Amino acid sequence: MADDKKADKTPDLEQVRDVAEAAKAKMLAETFFTTPAPDHEIPAHGVDPRAALEVLQSEMMLDSRPDKNLATFVTTWMEPEGRQVISENLHRNYIDHAEYPRTAEISKRCVRILHNLFHGEGEPEAPGAACAGSSEAVMLGALAMKWRWKAARGKAGKSDAKPNLVYGADVHVVWDKFCRYFDVEPRQVNLPKGKTTVGPEELRPQIDENTIGVVAVVGTTFTGECDDVEGIDRMLTELKGEGLDVPMHIDGASGGFVFPFTHPDFAWDFRLESVKSVNVSGHKFGLVYPGVGWLVFRDGDQLPEDLVFYEDYLGQKDATFTLNFSGSSSFILAQYYILIRAGRSGFESVMRAMTMNRDTLARELAAEDSLTVYEPGDRPLLPLVIAQVNDDEPFTGTDLVGELARRRGWLVPAYHLPPDNQDQQIMRMLVKGNQTREMVEALTADFRTSIEYLRKRGPAKGPKPNVHTGHHY
Ligand SMILES: Cc1ncc(COP(=O)(O)O)c(C=O)c1O
Repeated sequence: MADDKKADKTPDLEQVRDVAEAAKAKMLAETFFTTPAPDHEIPAHGVDPRAALEVLQSEMMLDSRPDKNLATFVTTWMEPEGRQVISENLHRNYIDHAEYPRTAEISKRCVRILHNLFHGEGEPEAPGAACAGSSEAVMLGALAMKWRWKAARGKAGKSDAKPNLVYGADVHVVWDKFCRYFDVEPRQVNLPKGKTTVGPEELRPQIDENTIGVVAVVGTTFTGECDDVEGIDRMLTELKGEGLDVPMHIDGASGGFVFPFTHPDFAWDFRLESVKSVNVSGHKFGLVYPGVGWLVFRDGDQLPEDLVFYEDYLGQKDATFTLNFSGSSSFILAQYYILIRAGRSGFESVMRAMTMNRDTLARELAAEDSLTVYEPGDRPLLPLVIAQVNDDEPFTGTDLVGELARRRGWLVPAYHLPPDNQDQQIMRMLVKGNQTREMVEALTADFRTSIEYLRKRGPAKGPKPNVHTGHHY
């Protein structure tokens, strides 16, 4: 009887094989090629790996080519050895520190190297964290500011009910997200007309005893420029003298891997007394594929003990300070690879090459009488070009980027500046390591023919849908 029951449960392998054979026979031609791809239910039967791959790859062809994506700050090219590090370590879960102690050590090394690059002092075990990107690093850095402020308020016997965070409208959307998700009042200051960054004049009036911190951007998403960090630091130092101690966090998502090499004398980092934490994206100018980012603290005092969790279910009592838990080690290891592979001189060379090609593109586009190219002079700028279509042209930035996409698939975003400059539409082109001089020249030629065509065509008949807008990349 017991055996009969067991027999009932045994799958009829014969039948399974028949079904699989039938599915395979059908798969060869029809499955997925003649029917829509599964999009809301797991298919009853699998298909040959090659068929599944083909389905996926054919859909990927419908996406744009990352190499022609001039909108993104994120790395779109790595050398084969970098890719090898990534593919060989995809299965190594970063959080298993007990099982992969060398991975944990290499991650700490990266934090120490960045702490040193950003002119942090001493601290052999510089605190910080490897993150999925700058967004996670921002959340953790801002949480540390909030907790430190709460502790200080508690100590002074004052209320901690109304924390606020002060920043300009030139920040990335992640700062608004932090405020919404973690219940902090966003004190966002508009950019005065004609300005694209903020300084102490704009931020000072917003700061009070409930301010958990001030955010300054080094390499903004909108124009690649920097807030007046030195001015903000002077203002915060004065405030401290008056008894109000407010920390500054630097959002160096892009600039953190650029300015140490292009403008070594530009003091935006721990050289400034009020800078207590910095975030940087490894997957932007840190030259690693997405996703890796870093949070680096000035010193151990910046990380409140309350935010560190200790667990020992992975085989070792371990301290964690992250929003995520599991994740691949690949990108952290690839960060270490590129740090030692390029070295300081390699990073300098890559940044110099980007800047040279950026300058060529800017010069070529500035020669077009229909465009105004934004040049910040000697001020530090990320390797990108900002251009604007002049008001008297019969076409807009949206028309122009549409033409560029149509010609050779270039992806150039056209978007409006943040308030109070929202009437200005600009185009932004990142010039990254894979943008060779040849590509810069091809892009310039396409600008020229697109402009000629649009001038001949005259004003568009009706409103044209945007091809590519937004700046949050
Ligand atoms: C200034 C700034 N901060 C934060 C972010 C978010 O970074 P991530 O994409 O690494 O999460 C970006 C992304 O472009 C950025 O430009």
